[in-house]
Amino acid sequence: MNAQLYNIPGATAVAAPAAPAAAPPAPASPGPVTVGEVLAQSQVEAVMDELDRDLIGLAPVKARIRDIAALLVIARLREQLGLASAKPSLHMCFSGNPGTGKTTVALRMAQILYRLGYVRKGHVVSVTRDDLVGQYIGHTAPKTKEVLKKAMGGVLFIDEAYYLYRPENERDYGQEAIEILLQVMENQRDDLVVILAGYKDRMDTFFQSNPGMSSRIAHHLDFPDYSGAELLQIADRMLTDSHYRFGPGAREAFDEYLQRRLTQPHFANARSVRNALDRMRLRQASRLFADRDRPLTADDLSTLAESDIRASRVFASPSTTA
Ligand SMILES: Nc1ncnc2c1ncn2[C@@H]1O[C@H](COP(=O)(O)OP(=O)(O)O)[C@@H](O)[C@H]1O
Ligand SMILES: [Mg+2]
Repeated sequence: MNAQLYNIPGATAVAAPAAPAAAPPAPASPGPVTVGEVLAQSQVEAVMDELDRDLIGLAPVKARIRDIAALLVIARLREQLGLASAKPSLHMCFSGNPGTGKTTVALRMAQILYRLGYVRKGHVVSVTRDDLVGQYIGHTAPKTKEVLKKAMGGVLFIDEAYYLYRPENERDYGQEAIEILLQVMENQRDDLVVILAGYKDRMDTFFQSNPGMSSRIAHHLDFPDYSGAELLQIADRMLTDSHYRFGPGAREAFDEYLQRRLTQPHFANARSVRNALDRMRLRQASRLFADRDRPLTADDLSTLAESDIRASRVFASPSTTA
């Protein structure tokens, strides 16, 4: 299987000196009675601040995450005072086009759930249909159960979840996986949060045909496409993080690149930005490599020149991609 397991970086990713990587979720300690106390004990605010800071744009998603966090904090306080009702249902749907940050936000969401004590471990297991559904009769249940076992105590992220449902094929094994998921989503919801992800229109169709799944999803988050300005900021962020920067004229050239690339097919938002920057780094390396005798300074090594950007095929013809 090619299910991906993400380990949550814990204290390395979150500047929270009071919360070492292995610290158990704080709500176990008795007695928070104010929102501030729950926030302070759980260190959850550090994760939310980091989410705000690290991710460009996504205002509606960030607002929804704050709402969900508020709900969970208040649920904690209610529990303290014996007002507990059923555990809140936390299964979610992240809909949006490729590269809009769904996987990235799922990792942060897992940390928030972990810090507030809603999942034991806070890891994310990311799967697609092929990880859950077998080719032959009898293969699907063990496959799905194996994935569920791995995901227990954390988040199961099912990318392009609608591929589980293939009505055109009467005996498709995807249905079997859906039924097992439904059971676990109901009966073990205190130990596993399922996030379904994919294109919005296909998710909507999937939910219409699968009311049982629809009724178990408590939160729907829509990830909008990024604007050109946001994509440029994302590029800045990615370059800074990897100790590169745009040289004279290069940022303007990249902005122009984005304007052209945006209108082309298969444009995948922030993922296309990442891939484009990778290709531009490749061109920078070839350019520097060609010059055998020049001593290379840190500046040379970290600067993407305008020519590295403009060599893209996107500038050659409006209809090709590269
Ligand atoms: N708002 C954002 N700010 C900065 N980087 C982002 C943002 N959204 C996505 N990225 C980056 O873009 C890439 C694709 O994001 P990802 O979460 O895999 O998208 P999706 O799961 O929706 O296809 C990742 O490298 C991620 O770090
Ligand atoms: Mg993804």
